[in-house]
Amino acid sequence: MSRPRSLSPKNKLTTFRLTQAEQEEMRASAEKLGFRTISDYIRHLHFLTKNSDSKNVAVNFHQNHPVPTIKPFLKTKHGEIIHGNSLGYLLNAAEPKSIDLIMTSPPFGLVREKSYGNEDADAYCEWFRPFAEGFRRVLKDTGSLVIDIGGAWNPGKPTRSLYHFKLLVMLVEEYGFHLCQEHYWWNPSKLPTPAEWVNVRRVRVKDAVNTVWWLSPSPWPKASNRRILAPYSSSMKALLKDGYKAKLRPSGHNISDKFSKDNGGSVPPNLLAIANTESNGTYQDFCREQGIAIHPARFPAQLPEYFIRLLTDPGDTVVDPFGGSCVTGAVAESLGRKWVCCELSEEYLEGAKARFTSGYAALPRERSSPYCIYQPCALPVDDGDAPLFEDGGKKRPEK
Ligand SMILES: C[S@@+](CC[C@H](N)C(=O)[O-])C[C@H]1O[C@@H](n2cnc3c(N)ncnc32)[C@H](O)[C@@H]1O
Repeated sequence: MSRPRSLSPKNKLTTFRLTQAEQEEMRASAEKLGFRTISDYIRHLHFLTKNSDSKNVAVNFHQNHPVPTIKPFLKTKHGEIIHGNSLGYLLNAAEPKSIDLIMTSPPFGLVREKSYGNEDADAYCEWFRPFAEGFRRVLKDTGSLVIDIGGAWNPGKPTRSLYHFKLLVMLVEEYGFHLCQEHYWWNPSKLPTPAEWVNVRRVRVKDAVNTVWWLSPSPWPKASNRRILAPYSSSMKALLKDGYKAKLRPSGHNISDKFSKDNGGSVPPNLLAIANTESNGTYQDFCREQGIAIHPARFPAQLPEYFIRLLTDPGDTVVDPFGGSCVTGAVAESLGRKWVCCELSEEYLEGAKARFTSGYAALPRERSSPYCIYQPCALPVDDGDAPLFEDGGKKRPEK
């Protein structure tokens, strides 16, 4: 156990978003027990309980920490919205091992603060720990944890933060999650940012991909890629029509005649192309009419749809602990899954109500048109016409 020391301000509990009184109480009990930080204490609990079942984790947490208060906000046919800190749900209200899928997009550790309250990238993993504990507690062994998380640039430099990779390593190495498969969500409509490095100094390319970590408590979460097929390409359609002669490819792969079996569609890659362009619709109209802030960091419905279909059956339970405008809840509702969304901001929840009114369509009807991405260097340029910036873009070009 660490020697008693006072808790550093860096580790103060504001990141847990507890009330002031709860923060003080929690800090006092950790200090009393001789822990340098709350996270050290949580790690200690994790160590003590890692061989016991997840119910005991929660019991220990209860005995030593006040659990944040949460309140019901809205109930629907299949799900409910909870207002408050999701730790109150994950560590207390939810039954242990009761959840099939946690589908979420936590506040990102962006360098530039946004109005949904991002955390400093360095403190991100620390902030995440109690949530990781809660995720372990509530997930079934057959369940999955899917985290959509954008990258971040280091302040003032054209270099990237490692915070989302560090988070992944922490979840696997310290909390025992298995990395089933990383996905990449490409937003074809993303603007070329950060402008300073991309447009002004021209030493980086536009940042248009979010990482999506698909993890699970066991290596065998339930799943079927037959639920998420893509249409066959025209060459595959021709092949299915005209047949394929089994042969050895130059790569050494033996392409058998099974290749020409029609499976109803092709298995998609782990690159999800979804434009996040929705600026008008029932949700936005409702927010504008009511004078409510439109959530600034919504993900598109097709992202949770993909994972909900891939990883859950109708009647299974999906949770979004960082619910925002409750896109996950609306998609789960429309797919007949039980669901729970937790959100700290009541204003965002007031807006989310629009997603559960009659006539609201959670999922787009038209989606068959593919996005186009060019092969690298599709527009050849002579090296001499575009000399490299030898200083790596350190000096800003004069106008
Ligand atoms: C990136 S946004 C999620 C947006 C959501 N996916 C959507 O499409 O609308 C993250 C949200 O987590 C909320 N949040 C942050 N900490 C929380 C906590 N401890 N409990 C519940 N919600 C939290 C923030 O208020 C924010 O709305």
